[in-house]
Amino acid sequence: MNLRIIPFFFLIFITCKSPDNTSPVIDKSLSITPKPLNVKKTQGHFELNKTTTFLCHEESSKVIANFFIEKLKISTGHSFSISNNGDNNKNTIQLIKETSSDFDDEEYAVSITKDQVSIKAKTDQGLFYGMQTLMQLLPQYNTTNKTQLPFKIQAVDINDKPRFAWRGMHLDVSRHFFSTDFIKKQLDVLSLFKINKFHWHLTDDQGWRIEIKKYPKLTSIGSKRKNADGTFHQGYYTQEEIKEVVAYAKERFIDVIPEFDTPGHAIAILAAYPELSCEDEKYEVRNLWGVESSILCAGKEETYTFIEDVIKELSSLFPYEYYHMGGDEVPKDQWKNSLVCQELKKREGLKDEKEIQSYFMARVEKILVKYKKKMIGWDEILEGGITPTTNIMSWQGEEGGIKAANEGHDVIMTPSQFCYFNFYQGDPKAEPLAFGGYIPLEKVYNYDPIPKEIAEDKKKHILGAQGNVWTEYTYEDETIEYLLYPRILALAETTWTQKENKAYDNFLDRLDPIYEILDYYKINHHIPLPEGPTANNIVFIDSVNVSFSTTHPVKMVYTTDGTDPNANSKAYTDPLHFTEDTELRIASILKNGKMSNIRKITIVKKSPIAPIGKTDLSQGLIMKEVKGYFNNISDISNTTEPQTSIIKKIEDANTTYHWGHQVNKDNFKAIFLDGFIDIPEDGVYYFSSAQDQIWIADQLVIDYKESLKKHPKENSIALQKGKHKLKIVYLNNVAKGWATDWNTVELKYRKASEVDYLEVDENMIFH
Ligand code: ACM
Repeated sequence: MNLRIIPFFFLIFITCKSPDNTSPVIDKSLSITPKPLNVKKTQGHFELNKTTTFLCHEESSKVIANFFIEKLKISTGHSFSISNNGDNNKNTIQLIKETSSDFDDEEYAVSITKDQVSIKAKTDQGLFYGMQTLMQLLPQYNTTNKTQLPFKIQAVDINDKPRFAWRGMHLDVSRHFFSTDFIKKQLDVLSLFKINKFHWHLTDDQGWRIEIKKYPKLTSIGSKRKNADGTFHQGYYTQEEIKEVVAYAKERFIDVIPEFDTPGHAIAILAAYPELSCEDEKYEVRNLWGVESSILCAGKEETYTFIEDVIKELSSLFPYEYYHMGGDEVPKDQWKNSLVCQELKKREGLKDEKEIQSYFMARVEKILVKYKKKMIGWDEILEGGITPTTNIMSWQGEEGGIKAANEGHDVIMTPSQFCYFNFYQGDPKAEPLAFGGYIPLEKVYNYDPIPKEIAEDKKKHILGAQGNVWTEYTYEDETIEYLLYPRILALAETTWTQKENKAYDNFLDRLDPIYEILDYYKINHHIPLPEGPTANNIVFIDSVNVSFSTTHPVKMVYTTDGTDPNANSKAYTDPLHFTEDTELRIASILKNGKMSNIRKITIVKKSPIAPIGKTDLSQGLIMKEVKGYFNNISDISNTTEPQTSIIKKIEDANTTYHWGHQVNKDNFKAIFLDGFIDIPEDGVYYFSSAQDQIWIADQLVIDYKESLKKHPKENSIALQKGKHKLKIVYLNNVAKGWATDWNTVELKYRKASEVDYLEVDENMIFH
């Protein structure tokens, strides 16, 4: 069957009148997410009404019934009751636990007939998933057009079980701290879609976030960060709060996996307990992103005692079998220079520092085993070899996961190119700030956690996959939600649904009901933005065509009269043609009327600017350097005498500092590059740069102001062939944790008619 026609049937069933012609029969059986294994419609319908009762024979199924009764009470206003009287099954929702059935642990069957709904499973988790599926068949999430009881639901038989046992979501709470209320909200929503693991990244260089009673300085010192701009960031979870979250997750059949990152990403620990490092130094919680060179000392016994003490306390909080012990991004110079580490190397016959890490992780695993835990580590730990019982989380692509699985280790796939939801999900030029990268919904959906390089008999070692959210550039709860949804639901389907049952078009057809659920739970989900123009200022000479698209199909509406678009505004269908100055406002709009952010694009007619008439110029630019640390250009005092020199290429203005653990504000400077740029022919040009300001022909073409100087900005200007004044301003500073000298100083250009940018090279710059 052509999957594209499913929504058509869906509409027919929604509008079909029931035989008694009183209320419509709701048929949502084709819009369950993740898509179940088997769905078979049968004759008739079940009416859920105020006399419907839950029928449970066991205490544990009553707990599950009560969980959903509470949910239904909120959405319908009615409190359903539970009975354990099995004589009259009519008008009941039965939760039947068959512990001796040959169902898998997470498997369930839902059967809806005229008389009753029955949900069968071998475990409580299976019953819970059956109930979640049933909930998606009900219309109670529709907040705009509330459907009152009774509901008439299409009769259907569903049999369902997951493809993978690990269907996870990860959250970094170190770079930015997020409240337990926020985490609970996410767990509640993720459980609707049968996500079953929450990987809680609790420790990192930029903050330790969990109370450990034996080491109070981990939180009194390690949870506080002074940012480079003088602001503070802090927060941690008490053990009581952790227990609360774990219990909340348990009710939703989500295992909580703590990550205690070792031996790197550990400077928040060293800030509190510097004796655990190899060096005699004083440390502070890192206020730069990136990789920290100070790590835990592998050669000191105190390190392992500390780790054991922490694990001991963690083991009373996190009851699940897997613990994540990090192991990623470990610079090993300190171990190279440490006497105790070199002695350890000799004593243990270790070949190099990579093998020191293997030794370290093996010792950590031994501690975990004492507490009956299994260790997961990031794929870097494969470098020096791992114990046979170590489990791998593959993030630097799929290679680590492939190697580990082929060697017989269990693996969780989180390759950054598919599973890092802090990456952009649409064009970075249109989307709000994200980390970088590009992972649109389709890429997540079509990801297969079992790469073809894994041998047939080793496929069982792929436990599943997980979506990761690193929070360097996410400050608000809403931003996390924006990055997560709906991509995490694409991953929920990727990990739950059999590959043969998946189809992206069909998933897209289910987005509207998914949005309905997300809106009900007040989730700030992503809506694809109108993409196309890479700058919000489009200069043209005679006329210009401007076209838009979205990452997946959604209607776009626009205005050209300076007002914000709404549902009644003109729909965008074809490229827009402009011959005069216009303020274009365009947004995407979902079927339920919800709109995306509005893009405001200024379209301006300009005559190309004439060149300056100079001919006696030399190649290169004049570089003026003003010593000092400046947050803004306006902070630079013009009384400071700059140091002046000539540079041949723009990139010669690069300054690379040694970044310690903190921003060292000595030795910084502001750089001004002055001269001329030679434009090859008349036309509209786009310029792209991540420097603070770019001035061309005395026009401010690029101006960063508050935005993050990590991602290049673009803008257009009309220029005649010949030489034009050029000025580049570049402040060496740290903004939002990003050190600007991590960028190359560069300027790129393209003609408006071209797609690819070229470097403004040494042949184009003069003074
Ligand atoms: C990682 O992204 N460093 C695991």
